[in-house]
Amino acid sequence: MQTLHTTSLRVRDNQLWILDQQALPQQQNWLDASSVDALVGHIHALRVRGAPLIGLSASLLLALLAENGMSRDALSQVLTVLRAARPTAVNLMNNLDRMKLALAQENYVAALGTEALRLVEEDKALCEAIVRAGSERVPRGSRILTHCNTGGLATAGVGTAIGVIARAFEQGKVEQVWVGETRPLLQGGRLTAWELGELGIPNRLICDSMAAALMAQQQVDAVWVGADRIAANGDVANKIGTYSLAVLARYHHIPFYVAAPHTTLDRHCPDGSAIPIEQRTAAEVTGVAGSFGQVQWAPQNAQVWNPAFDVTPAALISGWVLDTGVVTPEAVAAGCFQPLAGV
Ligand code: MRU
Repeated sequence: MQTLHTTSLRVRDNQLWILDQQALPQQQNWLDASSVDALVGHIHALRVRGAPLIGLSASLLLALLAENGMSRDALSQVLTVLRAARPTAVNLMNNLDRMKLALAQENYVAALGTEALRLVEEDKALCEAIVRAGSERVPRGSRILTHCNTGGLATAGVGTAIGVIARAFEQGKVEQVWVGETRPLLQGGRLTAWELGELGIPNRLICDSMAAALMAQQQVDAVWVGADRIAANGDVANKIGTYSLAVLARYHHIPFYVAAPHTTLDRHCPDGSAIPIEQRTAAEVTGVAGSFGQVQWAPQNAQVWNPAFDVTPAALISGWVLDTGVVTPEAVAAGCFQPLAGV
């Protein structure tokens, strides 16, 4: 396969490399992800993360394994293993459904390679379309709160919610970005704060529990987040803490937008209650680990509930900004999750 280089994925000499998102921003380490065990381990550990990136990394690995001589039967088994690597972000399943069609073709080696690279190129274009539509919705002087990490680290392109914010900043419309640290794994505090800093966008970090006080002081004009799965009725699964922000935003009359590619839609999920939510290890809540080391503050054997995502009901969302257009609350209330024509 040809050489490929995105913010956090690399293909070189038929090997896949990922930028370790657990070590960022203190260390920029590229890790080999050229075997199924390695990539699944990286996905579990969130060294490679973000809904679009998970799907792309799995698709690229499948194509590389084919080029390196793996049989069609073995590839089919690998596809099943990769599909189960993380349960919530449906981009993984949607991308691998496309790869499965390629695997069924006679010249499956070439077909898989072509399809994986096409998915990467498409993701860049999807981000661009989201960013164009989203940035139009950002008024001048905006102070925007965002959650988790939705930028170039999590996609092959400029990102979704962070992409919207960055484009609106370029257009002179963003005064300030508030970054929720995103407990327990600090994707906001480590990744978004770093990415925004690299882009030269003024940002201030808050603990997740500070958002209510910030809104009460009228310091937030809009909330922009990404998504891991959008159900047919518009309910959105995204990083844990998103739902709290949506409730707070509604109480304080602040618009709450979701930016996502259509590869995040799951028409088979009628509503948010059908979205599988990943449960993660207690250690992520009883302490913290990263490039800075490891510490436990909770008592040994503390009981923990640690869902990686929550579901924001459609009724709390002011707009779904997709690459295919913007879905309005009016359309959703009328039972039709479709982008407005011509938007
Ligand atoms: O657990 P993570 O870090 O993979 O969660 C990521 C998110 O929730 C993002 O908001 C989502 O995947 C969109 S990334 C463009």
